Amino acid sequence: MPAMSWYPLLRHAHIGLALLSVALFTLRGLGVLAGARWPMLGAVRAASVLFDTLLLAAGVTLAVLLQVSQAWLPVKLGLLVAYIVLGSLALKRAPTRAAKAACFAAALLCVGLLVSVARSRHPLGFLAGLA
Ligand code: HEM
Repeated sequence: MPAMSWYPLLRHAHIGLALLSVALFTLRGLGVLAGARWPMLGAVRAASVLFDTLLLAAGVTLAVLLQVSQAWLPVKLGLLVAYIVLGSLALKRAPTRAAKAACFAAALLCVGLLVSVARSRHPLGFLAGLA
């Protein structure tokens, strides 16, 4: 079976996992800000790690399959690192509720930009339209 025949399945899986991953992060962030305990329960954290690992695996496989070498991919990876760091601060590491809220908003901004970079396949994402 030629490798490219996996492309439609991988792309759908990548997009579906991206939706699941961001939706779960958003719910967990809101839960943490509301003072709930469920966002940090083992099963919820395990689901989040599972979605993220599969999302990244599908993304890396797509990048290899399509031999992407344009600038948008490193920009996307940079935004991914920022999203992960801000996400961890928002859910756990930031010292105060206000700091958690600020990191949560910044993480959602990063992932929104990340999705717009992915969709436009342009390093500036939706900002390219404004420039
Ligand atoms: C939070 C992490 C990520 C999110 C939310 C995300 C989101 C998306 C979305 C929504 C698309 C579809 C764009 C379209 O409409 O065509 C896409 C495509 C793509 N993503 Fe990701 N992605 C993430 C991580 C990654 C990673 C880590 C890689 C690679 C190392 C990657 C590689 C790709 C590639 C190559 C495509 C283009 C597929 C194509 O041209 O059909 N993604 N991503």
